[in-house]
Amino acid sequence: MLSLLKCMDCGREYPINAVLYTCESCGGLLDVHHDLDALRGRVSRELFDGRLGTLDAPYSSGVWRYKELIYPDLDDAAIVSRNEGNTNLYPAPALAAWAGVRTLYLKHEGENPTGSFKDRGMTTGVTQARALGMTRVACASTGNTSASMAAYAAHAGMEGIVFFQDRQIALGKLSQAIAYGATCVQISADFDRNLALVREIAGALGIYVLNSVNPFRLEGQKAIIFETLQQLRWQAPDWIVCPGGNLGNSSAFGKALYELHQLGLIDRLPRLAIVQAEGANPLYRAYQGGFARFEPVHAETIATAIKIGNPVNYPKAVRALRWTDGVVTQVSDQAIMDAKALIDGQGIGCEPASACSLAGTRQLVEAGIIRPDATVVGILTGHILKDPDATIGYHRDALTGLRAAFPNRLHQAEPSVEAITAILQGSAARRPS
Ligand code: F0G
Repeated sequence: MLSLLKCMDCGREYPINAVLYTCESCGGLLDVHHDLDALRGRVSRELFDGRLGTLDAPYSSGVWRYKELIYPDLDDAAIVSRNEGNTNLYPAPALAAWAGVRTLYLKHEGENPTGSFKDRGMTTGVTQARALGMTRVACASTGNTSASMAAYAAHAGMEGIVFFQDRQIALGKLSQAIAYGATCVQISADFDRNLALVREIAGALGIYVLNSVNPFRLEGQKAIIFETLQQLRWQAPDWIVCPGGNLGNSSAFGKALYELHQLGLIDRLPRLAIVQAEGANPLYRAYQGGFARFEPVHAETIATAIKIGNPVNYPKAVRALRWTDGVVTQVSDQAIMDAKALIDGQGIGCEPASACSLAGTRQLVEAGIIRPDATVVGILTGHILKDPDATIGYHRDALTGLRAAFPNRLHQAEPSVEAITAILQGSAARRPS
C-alpha cells in the first residue's frame, strides 16, 4: 500500500480504511500519508500534462488528474466525481496595480460544480465514505461545505446531514443544501459548537464526518495547488494568498506544496499567506505570539464563510506556515467588502470571504512583506451568487458599520425616453475613459 493514516504529532499509523479523524493515542490530527519515495518514479510533470484535455474519467477531473498524489491505491470504480476542478486562473492586471504587485493571478474555485472549493475535498471525502460502505455523511457548516456535501451525497445515493447556525447563513448556500435533499438542521449555536456536536453525534450513530477534520477532504483540496502550478507551467509563484477559516485549505496547501517540492515537480516553495477577518482571527493572534499559545475567539464577520473562532486544523496550518515560511494577516470587514467590489467589478466576482485574498495581498504589500515585484496567486474560494444579500447591501451602502468605497448604485426610472436618457448620459460621463 502506498498510503496510510498517520498522526501528525506522535506518528502512530493506522490502515487507510480506519474510520478515524484524530489519533487514538494522543488526539493529534491524522494525515493521509503517502510513500513519497515509492511515488517518486511514478509521477512527473509530463504524466499530469499528458492528461490535460482528456474526456475520460477519472483523469478529466481537476482533482483525479493527480490521483497518484491524492489516493494512489484507490480503485477507480469507487470514485464519486462531478468532474470538479478545472477552474480558471485569471491574470488580473488592474487588481495587481491596486494591490501594488507586478503580477496577480486569481484562481477561481467558485467555478466548481456547487460554486466553491469544497467540491475538491468532497469528491475525495464522499469517495472514501463509499469505499468504507457508509450510507450517511454529516457536517457542520457555514454554508459551502453543506452545499457541496449535499450534492455529492445525493450523487452517491447517500443521506447528507447538515448542522447549520440558525442565523447568518448566506441564502445561496442554504438553498443548495435543502434543494440537493440533505437533512438540514438549524441549531442555535455557532459553527464551532456545531462542529463539536456533529463529531459527537456522528461517532455515536456511525455517520461519517465530512468536515475538514477528515483528512481525505484535505487530499482533494491539495489539487487547487497542483492545478494552479500546472497552469503556471510548474513555475512557482512567490506567494499564494488564501482566506483562513477552519484552516483546511491552508493545511492542504502546505501539504501539497511540500509534496510537490519533495517529488521535484517544483523547484522552489512559494510562501503561503493566510488572511483572516479581524473579527475571526484566532490564527492571526497565535501567529503574533510566535504560536506559543492558541486561544479560540468568539467570531463575528460579514464574511460568514469564515466566521470561525476555533479552527480544527490549527496545528496543520501552523505546520504549513513553517514549511512555506508563511505569514498570517487580518483584514477588516470594510477592506473585505471593498476588495470584493473590485473583484466583482472586473467581471470575475466572488463571495465576501474570498476577497480576503485581494485585501490581504494589498495589506501585505503595504506592510513591506510582499515585494512589489512579486508574482502572487490569490485564491477565490466561492462564487459571487452565494451571498447576494452582502453584494446588494454593499452597493446600496446599507451594511451596518461599513461605508461602500466602490458602490454601483441601482437607478430607478420612469418609463420615459427622457428619464432613461438622462441616466445614461450621466453614467457615460461617470465612467473612466
Ligand atoms: N472561503 C469560503 C468561501 C468558505 O466557504 C470557507 C469555509 C473558507 C473560505 C475557509 O476555508 O475553512 O479551509 O479555512 N467554509 C466552511 C463551510 C467552514 O462550512 O463551508 P477553510
